[in-house]
Amino acid sequence: MRIRSNTYQKVSHQIANYIHKKANDSINGEHFILGLATGSTPHQIYEELKSMDIDFSRTITFNLDEYVGLNENHPQSYKYFMNKGLFKSQNFHSNNFPDEKLYPYYDSMIDNVGGIDIQILGIGTNGHIAFNEPGTPRDSKTRIVDLTENTIKDNSRFFDSIDEVPTQAMTMGINTIMKSKAIYLIAQGKHKKEILERAVYGEITPEVPASFLQEHPNCEVFYSD
Ligand code: F6R
Repeated sequence: MRIRSNTYQKVSHQIANYIHKKANDSINGEHFILGLATGSTPHQIYEELKSMDIDFSRTITFNLDEYVGLNENHPQSYKYFMNKGLFKSQNFHSNNFPDEKLYPYYDSMIDNVGGIDIQILGIGTNGHIAFNEPGTPRDSKTRIVDLTENTIKDNSRFFDSIDEVPTQAMTMGINTIMKSKAIYLIAQGKHKKEILERAVYGEITPEVPASFLQEHPNCEVFYSD
């Protein structure tokens, strides 16, 4: 695993093209299973996908995570973000979230459709992937977690005040993510550079959950300033 640096536009364009190809290839074959992240990093990928002529009718999506206590009408819920940011504009087969009802079944739901073909990941400034915070074991599955103070503070930029940020979330586990066939990890911004380097070149440790990706056979890592 190594870090490839490029502009945010180029990285987003490249990943949107990977998705485009897989979605179109799926039309006459198996369903395409796409794992998606929220937050600011994938924003441009979704803008690109919205503007492309893609047939998503055989694409099934699984989002990484969702806040506990925010329903889909809450503007900061990840369901709201994805519906507005992508799902409404394209003809997906179906879109899944590890919400309060589904999270206990999420790993079997993914297994039952044959596993995730492409998983998009961002990285937290503390090295989290999805909401697998430092200390998360390698064999973790989809579950409810407590968010760390660091994550609550980082994500407070999307809310009117830090007190409104949920303190818990449902998240895919490290084990769930590691079963994906291909993973694209994207870090955008200088504030992510140090943790990205630790994740990619440092010790593999639960203290930096993204470091487990070093053990993945097909994970590409992108950085843009
Ligand atoms: C969101 C998610 C998180 C974010 C990470 C980076 O679905 O899984 O791990 O990818 O917190 O967030 P941004 O992109 O907002 O810096």
